Order: sequence, then C-alpha cells, then structure tokens
Amino acid sequence: MDRIRIVGGNELKGVIPISGAKNAALPLMIASLLTDDTLTLENVPHLADVEQLIRILGNHGVDYTVNGRRESQDTGYSRTIHFTARNIVDTTAPYELVSKMRASFWVIGPLLARMGEARVSLPGGCAIGTRPVDLFIDGLRALGADIDIDIGYVVAKAPKGLIGNRYVFPKVSVGATHVLMMAASLARGETVLENAAREPEIVNLADCLNAMGARITGAGTSTITIEGVTSLQGARHRIIPDRIETGTYAMAVAMTGGDVLLQGARSDLLQGALDIVGQSGATITQTNEGIRVARNGAGIAPVDVTTEPFPGFPTDLQAQFMGLMTMANGRSKITETIFENRFMHVQELARFGARISLSGQSAIVDGVAKLKGAPVMATDLRASVSLVIAALAAEGESTVNRVYHLDRGFERLEEKLSRCGATVERISG
Ligand code: EPZ
Repeated sequence: MDRIRIVGGNELKGVIPISGAKNAALPLMIASLLTDDTLTLENVPHLADVEQLIRILGNHGVDYTVNGRRESQDTGYSRTIHFTARNIVDTTAPYELVSKMRASFWVIGPLLARMGEARVSLPGGCAIGTRPVDLFIDGLRALGADIDIDIGYVVAKAPKGLIGNRYVFPKVSVGATHVLMMAASLARGETVLENAAREPEIVNLADCLNAMGARITGAGTSTITIEGVTSLQGARHRIIPDRIETGTYAMAVAMTGGDVLLQGARSDLLQGALDIVGQSGATITQTNEGIRVARNGAGIAPVDVTTEPFPGFPTDLQAQFMGLMTMANGRSKITETIFENRFMHVQELARFGARISLSGQSAIVDGVAKLKGAPVMATDLRASVSLVIAALAAEGESTVNRVYHLDRGFERLEEKLSRCGATVERISG
C-alpha cells in the first residue's frame, strides 16, 4: 500500500493549479444517465472516485471516451470526457459497487426518471457517520415513486413516470437535492424543492441540466423550481474548480507560511471559509488568475468555527482547519454539525504533538509552538489531507499511510506540493 513521506518545515511558494471539483464531477457524470445523447464534461479531475464511478456507470450501459481516446491513454490533469447512455442495460446498482462509493447511490434518481425503475443497494455506513438515505426515499415518494426496501436494496418503481410535487427537505442534504433535481427534470409538471442545499455543486448540476433542456430555476437558493420535460438532450458543460481543494491548499499555506497562487480558483465558491483563513492571519486576494494566499512572519491566530451547509464553513474543510489550529497562538473551538463522527483525525494529529480534546460535537484545540513529524494514517479523505498539512508544517519526517484515501479526492497532490518547495514523495508498496 502506498505511503507519502513528507519532511516538514519548508514554506510553500509558487503556483498550484486547482482541479475540477470532485463533488461536482460525480453528480454531473450521473446526469449522463438522463439522456441517450452524449454529455461532454470538461475539467473532469483524474481521481480514484471518478474512475470508480466510470465503472459503475459502465455497468448501467454508459459508454465514455476521453478527449476522443480511451482513459488509459490519458496522462494529463483534468480532462474532457464524453459520456453516452444510449441504452440503459441494467437498472440495478449492486452492493459491490455502491458500497465502495456512497455517491453512486445517486443513480437512483436518473434511472427511475428515465426507465421507470431502479434497484440500488443501500450504501451502508462509512467512517464519518451513519449517513442514512431516508430523504432520498421520502423525496422520490413525494414524486409518486413506489419504494420498497428488499434485502439491502432500495427498489423504486414509477412505471407511468414521476409526477411533480412540492417537497420540503426536513434537513439540508446535498445528495438528496442532486437526486430530486435530476428526477424532477423528467417528471410530469412542476416540482418545488424547499430547504434545498445551496452548494455551488448544486448550481453547477442545475446549469448542466438546463443546458440539456431541463427547466430549473432557483438553484443556489433554498427553493428550487423544476418544470418537468419529456426528454433531455446532450450538452457540453464545464466542471467548476474544486473549492475543497482550494481551501485545503489555502490552509496549508496559512500553516507553513509562504506565498502561493491557487490558479483557477474562485473565491465566490468558498468565501466563508476564506474569511476564516484570513482571520487566522493569512492574506488572501482574488486575482484574474486565481486566489493568492500568503502568510509572512505573523503567527497563526486562533479562530472558532462551526461547520454548516453552504454558505457556512464546509464540513469537508473541518479536518484541515483543525490541522491549522494546532499551531495557533491560543485556544480554538471547532464544532462539527453535519456528520456525527467526523473527528477521526484528532487522535492522529495528536501523534504530531497537537493538543486537542473532544467534548461532544466540538474539539477544543490548544495551539502548540511546533509539531513533530510522525507516522500517521487516516480513515477518510479529508482527514488524510489534514495530516498532510500538519506534516508539511511539522519538524522532521512524517509518513502518511493509506494514501488511497488521498487519491480519491486530490489530483496529483505530491506533484502540486513539491513544485511549491515541499519535500513530499510517494513510496510505493
Ligand atoms: C456531500 O455528501 C459530499 N459528497 C460530502 O463530501 C460532504 O461532506 C457533504 O455533502 C456535506 O457537505 C459529495 O458531494 C459526493 P448530505 P452527501 O446528504 O450528499 C444527513 C467528501 O469528503 N442525511 O448533504 O452524502 C447526513 O447523514 C464528502 O468529499 C440524512 O439524514 O451529504 C448528514 O448528516 C464526504 N438522510 C447530512 O444529512 C439522508 O437521506 C448532510 O449530508 C441524506 C443525508
């Protein structure tokens, strides 16, 4: 199993190109199931989760080409991929595939809307919490689907098609908003989704669906209205820059010091998080080329944060921010409100010498003057990268094990960091 070796202590200086957003790419790829035409997506990141979803979509009959070539020939950064679901050959998403990646459960929306049926394995729990699917089931039922749970599978049927309706989410959910927006695009009549997620990835999906012929308004607000159409066509659509990758590198620079241009990044996608990084002492400027982050000399100020749905501070940056706070000049409090078990990085950060105590949904972090390198490992993607950030700032050598978590969500992490002066290498085997 690959590991990453890091010798900490260097400031980061240079340019880091920001990739296409993983969490926009996944629902957009799934949207290709809604049409028998080709959906062309630009700026698709080269990530393990994307490759896994390509396999899952292939199982349903989606064909793909990369810049006119097959994927194996492609060696570049984010690329253009053409997805064509001419014939859906299977409406079942089996456990072996869905259990590897939770977002693959989302195929339930397009399959049901286009084919009138879907049989999708329950995704099960994961390292960050139980993550149920009740909102998907309630929402699809509101659109007229008949849904049963059968030996670990959600079996959804709507042989005469889905029917538009008003659905109020009892809790904000990114995935359930994606799925209901896709399903309602092919329903008869109007659907109004209230208390919908407002994340930029929702807007990116709505823009793509509209380019395919859907009639969606209000994406990016908490009320989304969808006027159903009878069919959707192909389109060409660009994936937004990854706001979590952007925030992660911004926090890395805030921690190590230095001056980095996050090329292609957009501050409007994560203003709330950038403001917090700014309060910790970094200087952040949006330029024509991206976002410039610098911290020279001044120490790291402690800042309290609470994770919230967009536009609040994202849960996907909570672990990285905790990494930054471990070296702040004082005490900070970090409260996680989205997932119940997203503090798995705490005990690993402690291996670097961080002082963190947990109290219910909050972590109290007492900053230390320096961290010391150590071997560490993590159980999820964002937790893993928080360890990388801490290792970059720690004195001496660290190894971050279980690199496959990082490969799920960070394109060419070692290359991007080492080009900015970090000592980072991947050790195979
Ligand atoms: C998306 O997950 C992201 N994944 C997550 O990123 C992100 O952490 C999360 O949104 C919150 O921002 C992708 O976009 C692929 P939710 P999702 O439904 O859609 C509860 C990463 O590291 N809930 O918004 O699965 C749920 O348990 C990943 O890139 C229900 O109770 O998250 C959670 O507490 C991790 N019932 C809350 O809602 C449901 O039916 C928000 O989850 C669905 C969700």
